[in-house]
Amino acid sequence: MVFEQVATGGCQSYLVGCEQSCAAALIDPEISQIDHYLGLAARHGVRIRYLIDTHTHADHFSATRELARQLKVPVVMHRASPAPFVELRLADGEMLVLGKLRLSVLHTPGHTADSMCLQVEDRLFTGDTLLIGATGRTDLPSGDPEALYDSLFNKVLRLDPALKVCPAHDYKGRTHSTIGEELATNPRLQKRERAEFVAMMQNLNLTMPTHVTEALRTNMSGGKTVARLLAEAGAKVPFMSLAELKARVEAGEDDLIVLDVREREAYEAGHVPGARLLPRGQLELRVNQDLPDPTRRILSCCELGYISTLAAATLRDMGFLHAVALDGGMKAWREAGYPVKAGKEP
Ligand SMILES: [Fe+2]
Repeated sequence: MVFEQVATGGCQSYLVGCEQSCAAALIDPEISQIDHYLGLAARHGVRIRYLIDTHTHADHFSATRELARQLKVPVVMHRASPAPFVELRLADGEMLVLGKLRLSVLHTPGHTADSMCLQVEDRLFTGDTLLIGATGRTDLPSGDPEALYDSLFNKVLRLDPALKVCPAHDYKGRTHSTIGEELATNPRLQKRERAEFVAMMQNLNLTMPTHVTEALRTNMSGGKTVARLLAEAGAKVPFMSLAELKARVEAGEDDLIVLDVREREAYEAGHVPGARLLPRGQLELRVNQDLPDPTRRILSCCELGYISTLAAATLRDMGFLHAVALDGGMKAWREAGYPVKAGKEP
């Protein structure tokens, strides 16, 4: 069996595949690791056939939708998943066939209503149902401590104690444990009475994961994260360094239009000498009047370098084929001690 575990912070994702048939599946892939997964699949000589999320993640950004678009293979989740882009919905007791491998589904609600575990040979991919020395929390949307109790004590923990546990998270660098080890040492599993277990889960008082609203928004809808929008914009525009712009400004080069896309107040407090003002929020509405020549070289700048990247990408979409973005922003420009001019547009 091809098996790779990829950690992103505390999130664990897996590539599993059949050596004979060269078919593979990705389990709980994370958006920043897309090139890593494709590289691993290429190294093993396997083709990714399924993109599986064990549940709706609230704490990281799933790569399933984007990879499905790139690879033209289905996103797979439990049938209770709310995500509209899931093409293959599985129910308890069903299997995915991957060459000689069988991925068996165990519906294990509790952490979320759509949580499932997948058994492949001697391993159980437990998602956030069972972690090493912990369990998934039950205080996020669709979480239910009673359901988690049943999923754990009446399903997962009744499986072969030798089965390896491969969780969707581990924050301490451990790769796996076994059902037997968890039963013996996992502190949360020592509360074996339903009422005790539920009371413990209800009183964990955990802090909310960072990015919880963005993770739920994008994972449930298939929409893009802010980082993804910026990465896509950044991939289609060239950049100019702060030092290069400074040299051009000092040389009095006039074939370059420096377009400050911040709001008026920020512009008037200090801008690159010679820069023009066109706030990002008005870009599309004023572009015809303010930038009539699409063949001009336009450099967008903003405070931190993010909005200017979006602005340059928008300009390119509109046909300004020489739009570039500043690599950095006015904050870095000022900190570098480069020339700044205050006041209204000339
Ligand atoms: Fe989770």
